[in-house]
Amino acid sequence: MTPGRVIAGPGGGIPWDLPRDRAHFRAYTSGKWMLVGRKTYEEMEGWFGNRTPLILTRDPSFVAPVPSHRVVGSIFEAIELAKRNGIGELVISGGAEVYETALPYADRLVLTTVETEIESDIHFPECRDPENWTAIHREVWPSDEENDFEIILQILDRKSR
Ligand SMILES: NC(=O)c1ccc[n+]([C@@H]2O[C@H](COP(=O)([O-])OP(=O)(O)OC[C@H]3O[C@@H](n4cnc5c(N)ncnc54)[C@H](OP(=O)(O)O)[C@@H]3O)[C@@H](O)[C@H]2O)c1
Repeated sequence: MTPGRVIAGPGGGIPWDLPRDRAHFRAYTSGKWMLVGRKTYEEMEGWFGNRTPLILTRDPSFVAPVPSHRVVGSIFEAIELAKRNGIGELVISGGAEVYETALPYADRLVLTTVETEIESDIHFPECRDPENWTAIHREVWPSDEENDFEIILQILDRKSR
């Protein structure tokens, strides 16, 4: 997200081209289960590779176009399905509506701040309890010829529930 919490351009879609952040996202999610909203899933279709997306939708007739991709009707169903399958980490991967619903259940934030300003109403939710999170990792990557903006990568763990 940007410092103003924007995560997508006004018409949707990722509004920056940052190969370094894409590589980080690919590496962090490799082999993992990911919870994505139906809209984000459709935007990312064809991308998932060795990852298992759980597609969150209210549409009971929605069928995943790839047999190994799973459909869930709630965040609780997603967490239960992951637990039953022995999955230790379910990576909540957006978009805005899913981040808003899932943030209260997250134990870790893997957060890239992109140092730019974008006008859009697609946001990452406000963190209501910032004092309850500890940064366990922080890296600053300056812009360069391939990456237009400086980015700050942080990993924050929840202190307690
Ligand atoms: N920068 C980032 O980190 C990042 C990451 C991911 C996505 N994005 C951006 O985010 C935008 C999409 O965000 P969005 O908020 O519009 O859509 P979204 O969160 O991707 O998907 C919303 C859809 O998910 C389903 N859904 C959401 N909450 C649900 C719940 N509690 N129970 C059941 N189903 C639920 C509904 O699907 P149905 O309509 O099928 O019922 C809803 O329409 C895209 O522009 C994308 O580029 C940014």
